[in-house]
Amino acid sequence: GVLPTSKQFAQKDGYRFFMEKEIHEQCVVTSDTMLGRMCDEKVDFEEFDSSIIEGIEEIKICACGTSFHAGLTASYLFERLAKVRCSVEIASEFRYKEPLLNKNTLFIVISQSGETADTLEALKMANKEGLKSIVVCNVDNSSMTRIANYSVLTRAGIEKGVASTKAFSTQTVVLWMMALYFAQYKNSLSIEEMNSELKALREVPKSLKVHDSTHEKTKRLSKRYLHGHGFFFIGRDVFYPLALEGALKLKEISYLHAEGYPAGEMKHGPIALADPELFTIALMPQNLLYDKIKSNVEELSARDSTICAISPLDFDLADDYIKTNKYDHYMLEFFEMLVVLQLFSMEISVRLGNDVDMPRNLAKSVTVE
Ligand code: G6P
Repeated sequence: GVLPTSKQFAQKDGYRFFMEKEIHEQCVVTSDTMLGRMCDEKVDFEEFDSSIIEGIEEIKICACGTSFHAGLTASYLFERLAKVRCSVEIASEFRYKEPLLNKNTLFIVISQSGETADTLEALKMANKEGLKSIVVCNVDNSSMTRIANYSVLTRAGIEKGVASTKAFSTQTVVLWMMALYFAQYKNSLSIEEMNSELKALREVPKSLKVHDSTHEKTKRLSKRYLHGHGFFFIGRDVFYPLALEGALKLKEISYLHAEGYPAGEMKHGPIALADPELFTIALMPQNLLYDKIKSNVEELSARDSTICAISPLDFDLADDYIKTNKYDHYMLEFFEMLVVLQLFSMEISVRLGNDVDMPRNLAKSVTVE
């Protein structure tokens, strides 16, 4: 390939790609995103006060692409932590389904750019119906921040890689904090529970550090894993949206066929595809439904799928194993596994000789329908 000019190289801070640089930045930008929003024993947002949740009966989230995956992750957190009903929709579906909207719904759109046409339209529809709206966005003064009732900015900095990385981690952090903010208002968590959530939040930047040994491991695995006829990324609970995100990253930059699937649903069809060329990337956190995912993976292994387990726990049946660190909160496992998945797709893309930062057919921001 053509060598980068010294200026281009400088912008990448010595990394090969913007995507690689942005993966490494996640520990810093998530910490920036939390700055000033966590005081002592609670979460606080200067963008709104508790009146935002008054009279709210449910939350609806709309987004596209990677931002949709952050939304899906958040829906588990809003229900589990704040005990607020939460539904999530892909913006391009939402806008034409003649949705029934209830005035007591808090409408949240998530967008890195603040310009995605479908998400913007969903926001306009909610505004028109008189719903309270919030945008979680990385770009101030964008189309969405201008029209949402409230804007909560992620502080990811400019994201150049078309495949989103640090936008996703900062969005997830903001949404988790919002779930805790609502939990405070609704008194839905005990003091101990709240403290353990806050403690975990503070450890997020650490969990997003890129470990050289893990990076090397993904490089080595990329050699073999580019020969499959298909990938299933599987997980349960929040690891299901994470599986979707892992599969999307692989599709975007490697052009390999990948699907994210809820692990417990594999038996209802997809398991029929299992053979040694079907690669299963199994997200097996220690702190959330471990035994459940383990038995799902065992079924796939018994049907000869090649298994790559990402887990802090040894798993005998795995053909390959990427060991993650042990934490006492599943969200920290979530973030560390996110980095693994990002590196994995990047290394496969590199080996295939693809343009990591500017994959074919894709645009960073889709401002037309
Ligand atoms: C494009 C990008 C994706 C992004 C999606 C939504 O498809 O390639 O990386 O997730 O748009 O973008 P947004 O700016 O609304 O988060």
